[in-house]
Amino acid sequence: MSSSYLFEVWTAIQIVMVVGLVLIAIRSRSSEKKKYPPVVGAWMVVRDLVLFKDKVPHRTFYQWAKCYGPVYSVRTGFSSAVVVLNSAKAARQAMTEHHSSITAKNLTTALKVLSLDQTMVALSDYGRDHRLMKKLMVSHLLGTTPQRNNAFMREEMVQKLITSVYLELKEACNDTVNMSKIILDHLFPFALNQVIGKTVEPLYVEELGSEIVSVQDMYNLIVGDPGNAALEINWRDFLPFVNRWFPNKKLRKMLDDVTKRRSALVKALIRQERDLLASGKEWKGYLDMLLKEGEILSERQLETAIWEPVIESTTTSHVAMVWAFFNLAKHPHTQERLYKELEQVCGNKALEEEDLGKLAYLKGIFYETVRRHSPLPLVPLRIVHEDVEIDGYHVPAGWEILINIWGANNYEGEWKNSEEWRPERQLEFPVEEDIYRTMVFGAGNRLCAGWAQAVTIASLVIGRIVQNFELKMPTGHEEDYDTIINTGTHKQHPLFSILTPRNA
Ligand code: HEM
Repeated sequence: MSSSYLFEVWTAIQIVMVVGLVLIAIRSRSSEKKKYPPVVGAWMVVRDLVLFKDKVPHRTFYQWAKCYGPVYSVRTGFSSAVVVLNSAKAARQAMTEHHSSITAKNLTTALKVLSLDQTMVALSDYGRDHRLMKKLMVSHLLGTTPQRNNAFMREEMVQKLITSVYLELKEACNDTVNMSKIILDHLFPFALNQVIGKTVEPLYVEELGSEIVSVQDMYNLIVGDPGNAALEINWRDFLPFVNRWFPNKKLRKMLDDVTKRRSALVKALIRQERDLLASGKEWKGYLDMLLKEGEILSERQLETAIWEPVIESTTTSHVAMVWAFFNLAKHPHTQERLYKELEQVCGNKALEEEDLGKLAYLKGIFYETVRRHSPLPLVPLRIVHEDVEIDGYHVPAGWEILINIWGANNYEGEWKNSEEWRPERQLEFPVEEDIYRTMVFGAGNRLCAGWAQAVTIASLVIGRIVQNFELKMPTGHEEDYDTIINTGTHKQHPLFSILTPRNA
């Protein structure tokens, strides 16, 4: 071997080594520069979430944001963590510009079983099935045209609700009404009717034995029981390997039972509709459109497409209305200002949907209520599958993101005196920015599909009640903010209001 050859090889090795060292130096310098979110102390996590068995974690996450800033992390393993986002800026970044890197959802056992393995639009991973189910729901139920066609159902619901309040006041020995119950008694049948396309009547459910199911039973099967079951947090969810070896059979049986009973009812509703169509009924409404397009849906997709919008239309709107009436009863001046606005726009006639665009203060009351009491406080965990940067922090692949919608809507850095319910602050927003006022309906590709319906129904009910009655808070209930989360941030104790008819 010549010495010049050896010299060339040695030079080449030296070059490779130098380039390698430079690359390592660049890499380590760039990783040094990465700024990770601050980590919440382990003791704080154990104390607040585990020892006190926190039932309102969104509030605890919000309190932590006061110490650590709006973006922080909670360690879940040696190399993994959950990053909690508590500001609109960070939440919006995760939901919009980084959506494609944070799409998959990590659900608890209860949510996985109840959503029939993520068949629900709201709990599915982004992809073909999600798009198919969402498209059907929007084109035949929640979009502008079907919502216009169903306006008469909303009007019927509001009229019945007002009539029941008058009846209740007449029959009761006092002027106090259980607003939580009266709203639910009308909202659930409406939600079911708009899906089925007609007033739902009691029906025979073969799979449940010889039961005739009443509307109250239907509520329990579709909304109440699954809502309570969703609360079942299985500690094994946080230790997947234990779950595999020692599954919680009791929990699994309870969840299977709830889903089986819900499925039995939905199957009976489908059978009833198919019989009617076979006997010549006109094809009309959401359920009929699903049956028409049935060949592209699996059986479980068809069933889910029926119960999912019923749950979503009932629960979140109920939460919004109850907290709106709670706050109106507490703030007589706000109520008076709304009454004046309604008088100015509607005169002596009852508020109609077409008037809503002219009622800025009513809209402000709705948005301020859902900001302060965000019906869906936390978005299910999302898995990060590509490194991202959120609000200046590096979040590596393999970590998870938890979006605290309630926290973002109450973050002091974005909302001054955020704990104050003040509809006036909502008047500062231009009309076209409705959906961006708060984070209440999410953002980006997974934006709430039913937001327009929710705003319309809640505003209509709030406006019509205030046109008809003056609300007052019974003494001693003013500070009753106790909240329970099952299908949303429900008021834990029913809302009782003193109602005085304005035309008495
Ligand atoms: C005040 C009432 C409501 C609130 C606060 C609300 C809130 C939300 C939020 C925050 C999300 C996004 C969840 C996420 O990013 O994972 C969402 C999604 C969704 N909402 Fe609503 N919602 C309301 C009413 C409704 C109504 C009436 C419906 C009617 C069916 C509905 C149907 C849906 C659906 C289908 C999705 C899933 C969208 C998707 O993943 O592509 N929501 N909602």
